[in-house]
Amino acid sequence: MDACSSKSVRRWTVAFLWGISIFLLILYYHYVRRGEINPFASTIYLDPLYLANKAFASGSVVMIAISLFLGPLARFFPWLSSRVCYRKEIGLMGFFMAVVHTYISLFLLEAWFPYDWYLTNRLAVMMGYLALVLFLVISITSLDKIAFKLGYKRWKFIQRLAYLGLFFVVLHIIFQKKTYSSWLQWFQTFDPVLPPASLVISIIILVVFVMRVAVFLLDSRKGPKSYSEKKSL
Ligand code: HEM
Repeated sequence: MDACSSKSVRRWTVAFLWGISIFLLILYYHYVRRGEINPFASTIYLDPLYLANKAFASGSVVMIAISLFLGPLARFFPWLSSRVCYRKEIGLMGFFMAVVHTYISLFLLEAWFPYDWYLTNRLAVMMGYLALVLFLVISITSLDKIAFKLGYKRWKFIQRLAYLGLFFVVLHIIFQKKTYSSWLQWFQTFDPVLPPASLVISIIILVVFVMRVAVFLLDSRKGPKSYSEKKSL
């Protein structure tokens, strides 16, 4: 639905590079948080797949947040308008990362997350699946052919369900039994200095919501939008 001048290959390359960079940055965050500045000369054993899974999970949220952010941000910073057309590929890349996170959690980390873990955290897992299904629907309907068939209003409605998806992700994090204790412990000790990634991610989601409300209020003050403005949201 975006009138985008850059080629599809370029948009996918940009989204892929963003995905890789964010993944590596978050992975490194997890090492530094655990006191390992140089992951290649680790003094303690840290399971790389366990940390990579966390990086895929958080990276997925960051990518989806960027794709939702771009439209509203372009309202405040017009130079970003030309970047708005990357949001579809960035959002889809975020969805792929969530699929990878789900696959790793379910099939490759049984030692960390055995069947029992899913039973004791069933509400959190349910929220994860709800988010995943919602993002799947949003991804499918973002494909040009389907988007055109749906028409602008229905397409927009479905795309906005991404905010509900992010809400389910927050519940997916908060309902995990260990989340509360790890956040509380960090607030009480500030040790390690860096906060748990799950806390940072929840704050990022909150910022996305605040941004959405700010744009909504801005729009209701301004009155009806022009068609081109509508398209850039
Ligand atoms: C859109 C879908 C999903 C997103 C965006 C997502 C995101 C996240 C995030 C941000 C975390 C916290 C990571 C951390 O502690 O650093 C997490 C944890 C976790 N998620 Fe998901 N998740 C999704 C779906 C699922 C599904 C469907 C499952 C499994 C069936 C799952 C399994 C897990 C597990 C096992 C953890 C704990 C990881 C850990 O503590 O290392 N997630 N997820």
